[in-house]
Amino acid sequence: MKKLCFLIMTSIMMLCLSFSHLCMAATQEKVLRVATEPSFAPFEFQEEGSGEFTGFDMELIRAVGKQAGYKVVISNMGFDALIPALKAKNIDLAIAGMTITEERKQQVLFSDPYYTSGLIIMTRKDNDSIKSIKDLEGKVVAAQIGTSGEKKARSIKNAKIVSFNTNSEASMEVVNKGADASINDAPVVGYYLVQGGDKTCKTVGEKMEAEEYGMAMRIDNIQLQKDINKALAEIKANGEYDKIYKKWFGEEANATAKAQAQKQATGLSFMIDILPLLLQGAGITIEVSALSVFFGLLIGLAVAIARLSGCKPLSILAACYVDFIRGTPLLVQIFLVYFALPNIIGHRVDPFFAAISACSVNSGAYVAEIFRGGIQSIDRGQMEAGRSLGLTWWQTMKFIIIPQAFKRIIPPMGNEFIAMLKDSSLVSVIGFEELTRRGQLIIARTYASFEVWLAVAFVYLIMTFAVSRLVGIMEKRMKTE
Ligand code: ARG
Repeated sequence: MKKLCFLIMTSIMMLCLSFSHLCMAATQEKVLRVATEPSFAPFEFQEEGSGEFTGFDMELIRAVGKQAGYKVVISNMGFDALIPALKAKNIDLAIAGMTITEERKQQVLFSDPYYTSGLIIMTRKDNDSIKSIKDLEGKVVAAQIGTSGEKKARSIKNAKIVSFNTNSEASMEVVNKGADASINDAPVVGYYLVQGGDKTCKTVGEKMEAEEYGMAMRIDNIQLQKDINKALAEIKANGEYDKIYKKWFGEEANATAKAQAQKQATGLSFMIDILPLLLQGAGITIEVSALSVFFGLLIGLAVAIARLSGCKPLSILAACYVDFIRGTPLLVQIFLVYFALPNIIGHRVDPFFAAISACSVNSGAYVAEIFRGGIQSIDRGQMEAGRSLGLTWWQTMKFIIIPQAFKRIIPPMGNEFIAMLKDSSLVSVIGFEELTRRGQLIIARTYASFEVWLAVAFVYLIMTFAVSRLVGIMEKRMKTE
């Protein structure tokens, strides 16, 4: 009875937790769902301490949104995911230092231009052989995935292109001598060389042709484009745009950038400083994994029973599910739910729903196999004994077989939970700031990859160790019961 109560309470808690997220998203009105890719200082990056998104673009969109009467909610995702997310109606607007190009104009609407930029080459100071784009022929060039810099790099004859998820990773590849040069937006490279405190790199040549940044919206959202353009013009007229511009690109901005660069982002004290931000990310990691393993457990049990039920269509269906899910990567499944499903249902998919459902369905397939193994490991004679006592197949399963199987599956279930803790980092692609993404965002601001990844690994280790211990305790308890 006690166990049943516990199970019911846990289920209610888990369901409440899941629904609270969905309801929160549903109750807000006239919300402008904005996404960015915050490894692009000074346009968008994560603020030290608070973890809030800051930078020129972030202040601009908050001001524009306010002027147009919207409540701006900002999330983050990969640069290459922004346009697909718009097309899938998962977000309303993307602002990420995005260059207005003819190619992109086929896919999305752009606001009026709000900043003029251009690409530039960055290489190491000790490299004298690169003076212009021509010198990059046959060289290794780093760039961020899906950017105009990457496109430019691909047009260079015989160059080998290495693409990275974040812009800071591309810069670091040059520092680490993995690439001869990188091609990136000039203001961002400039900021990196000053604020990042980098002493090993330099820019070469002039800025290439001018590029205009625009905010991207869904191709059919003409009303939003009108609202945004009107608000942008208004804040340009009332001086607010200039104020924001000066803050990020004026004299004062240079001074703060230099002061920032003095602050050493190294050593143990830096690792301790970033711990609160990482722990917040760990909270999301635990939430996503716990919910996914919980729902995965329910799905897995149902699928295992279906597979062993003796009903042919049911067991074929269950086998197909397990094969399909195990045969495709979790990342693809997350993309399918978040980007492809909206095309089928004609409605946006909440990122929380997408993350939990993809991870639960994935976990369910593995758990189903764990359950099947557990159930099949129970002596066949027990089913026969149950049946000869007059119990039905289902009653024998429920009262005799499953309770025993439960005990046997605790160690592999522990493994599953630990695997999910680590795999859940994949939900960062649709905007979750879980532990790994937190690490990536801190590096985008501080460029201290060694310290950050060490701290991230340490936090994962604590979590997985705690789960191992918990599973060990449960196992012992079950044995003595
Ligand atoms: N301006 C370039 C482009 O549109 C790079 C933008 C990268 N933005 C970012 N937030 N990482 O392709």
